Amino acid sequence: ENLKWITVKSPEEGAKEVYKIIEEELRNNRLHVLGLATGSTMIPVYQEWTNSNLDFSQVTAFNLDEYVGIDANNPNSYAYFMKQHLFNKKPFKETHIPNGMAEDLDKECQNYEQQLNANPLDIQLLGVGENGHIAFNEPGTSPDSVTHVATLTDSTLGVNSQYFENDEKIPNTALTMGISSIMKSKKLIMVAFGEKKRAAMEKLKQGEVTPDWPITKLLRHEDVVVITDLQID
Ligand code: GLP
Repeated sequence: ENLKWITVKSPEEGAKEVYKIIEEELRNNRLHVLGLATGSTMIPVYQEWTNSNLDFSQVTAFNLDEYVGIDANNPNSYAYFMKQHLFNKKPFKETHIPNGMAEDLDKECQNYEQQLNANPLDIQLLGVGENGHIAFNEPGTSPDSVTHVATLTDSTLGVNSQYFENDEKIPNTALTMGISSIMKSKKLIMVAFGEKKRAAMEKLKQGEVTPDWPITKLLRHEDVVVITDLQID
């Protein structure tokens, strides 16, 4: 198995493991382009960074995804999440997030993919959905997919709507890096905390690649670190 598993006791300990990797890559001048993720999993991860003296001022960041039709000033947007949890506290050289308000969404996706190709990811940080999605690549998404407009599944809408504030209805579409865009990153760090992620982590551990569980595509990557508080046998 090509995955390096790090089993931790708590999300806080997991966040420290992510920190160690980021710190080492920065120190060795190997981290210039960093792929970032949102979600509750990333809150302790970013807290660890903002409480440190890590210097991202020479690092270009790319986020995985964004909801369609939600602008950056809306607390429900991923752009807002990133400002709140990281960018307002740590300066980056550049930050990129797909623009869910773009008039031409397909064109926005093409532009985003072009920017990624011009700035190849050194590390991509990933969480996982309960149904095994990575970014917003839902079950059945082509492994060859690049940045695209994705339709969210009922499972994802149900899980993610609990984070939606102000009674706003969760959009059922989002812009997301594709599976292929993610796989191009030199290194992947997958972080999964809590029992709700057990099914997805078991699929990963089983070692069989299936489009029904997008996370399993990671098995085809040569440098993946998995950090989880779940004991999977
Ligand atoms: C969203 C994001 C994913 C993220 C997932 C898990 O669906 N698009 O990139 O991995 O949520 O979120 P959480 O960390 O809150 O469990």
